[in-house]
Amino acid sequence: MSPSPAFTRGIEIAGVGSALPDRILSNKDLETMMDTSDEWIVQRTGIHERRVHDPDTGPNTTTLATDALNKALSHAGMQGSDLDLIICATMTPDMPTPSVSCLVAHHVNAGQIPAFDLNAACSGFVYAMNCAHDMIRSGAHKNVGVIGADLITRFIDYSTFGRASAILFGDAAGACVLRECDKPAKGLLAQSMHTDASRAKHLFIPGGKNDFFEMDYEERRVLRVQMNGPAVFKFAVSTFPKLIEETLDKAGVDAHEVHHYICHQSNARILTAARDRFGLPEDRFYINIGARGNTVSASVPLILDELTQAGRVEEGQKIMLLGFGAGLTWASSLWQL
Ligand code: COA
Repeated sequence: MSPSPAFTRGIEIAGVGSALPDRILSNKDLETMMDTSDEWIVQRTGIHERRVHDPDTGPNTTTLATDALNKALSHAGMQGSDLDLIICATMTPDMPTPSVSCLVAHHVNAGQIPAFDLNAACSGFVYAMNCAHDMIRSGAHKNVGVIGADLITRFIDYSTFGRASAILFGDAAGACVLRECDKPAKGLLAQSMHTDASRAKHLFIPGGKNDFFEMDYEERRVLRVQMNGPAVFKFAVSTFPKLIEETLDKAGVDAHEVHHYICHQSNARILTAARDRFGLPEDRFYINIGARGNTVSASVPLILDELTQAGRVEEGQKIMLLGFGAGLTWASSLWQL
C-alpha cells in the first residue's frame, strides 16, 4: 500500500448491511437427503442450519447483493447516486457476463460509475475491502460500495456422494460503504493478501472435463464443489494464527488491542482453535456459523453487520477482517474505526 502523497484524509466504514434468503435448510432436512446426521454435523462443524436460495423463486446473487448494498447505503445515510465505484466479491455470479456489480450499479441507480467483480473465493470480501480502501487512498474515488455475495449452493451435490461439502455451505450477501472522511487516523492500519495454487486441488469447482486436476474424470463432479476436507482444515488451522500474527506485526499492534476479529466462518473448530491460540475471549472472536454455515465471500460482512446491529462496533475501535478459501487464497484487513 503506497498512500498518495496528497492524501491527508481518512477512510471510514460508513455503513453496513446484509441479506439472506428466507429458506432455511436444517441438519434434519439434510438427514432426509443424504446419509448424515445432525449429531455428526454439529460435532464436526458447529453448524445447525444454513439459508439457501430457491432455484425457482430466488433470490439470486444480484438481488441479494443489491439488497445488502441498499441496507449499507441506508445505514450510511447515502444513496446509490452518491457512490463512485462498486466492487462485488463473488465466485458465483448469476451470469458469466455482465458482472454482478454492473447489475447492482444499475439497480441502486448509481449511474454510469465503474463497477467490477473480484473473485478470491472466501477471501474475496477482504480482498475487496483492501482494494477499495487503496482506490480511495489513491485519490481516484471517494465513496465505494463493497459487497460480498455468493449463492454457493448452486454448486453443491446434495447426495451422500457430496455430503462432506453439502453440510457446510449457505447463501448470503453482505456489504459496506467506504467513504473518505476528515479524520486522518481512520482507515487501514495493515493488510495482507496471499495465494498458493500448488494447493488449488484441495478446494475447487471444475467447469468441465479438462478442468480436473486428476485424470479420473467423473461427470457428476462437474460444476460441483470438490473439497479435500482434512487438507483444507489443516491449512486453515495453521494459516489463521500466522495471518493474524503477520498483520499485527505489520501494524505494530498487540493482539489484545484489537476489539473484534471478524473471521471467515468455515468451521467452528477451526475458529475456536485460532481463538484459543491467542487467548482471546469469545466476545472478541465472534462465531455465527451455527445459523448461517459457510457463506463464502458474505461471511465476513454478515458478522460485521450483526456486531454493528448489536451496538458492539464503535468509533475508535480496531477490527481485523480475515478470510481464507479456494485458490488457495487468504487475506487480512486491520482497520482503525
Ligand atoms: N455426514 C456423515 N459422515 C460424513 C459426512 C457427513 N456429512 N461427511 C463425511 N463423512 C464421513 C466420511 O465419509 C468419512 O467416513 P469414513 O471414515 O468411513 O471414510 C468420515 O466421515 C471422516 O471424513 P473426514 O473427511 O476425514 O471428516 P472430517 O473430520 O475431516 O470432517 C469436514 C469433514 C468437511 C467437516 C472437515 O474436514 C472440515 O470442516 N474441513 C474444512 C472445510 C472448510 O473449511 N472448507 C471451506 C473452506 S473456505
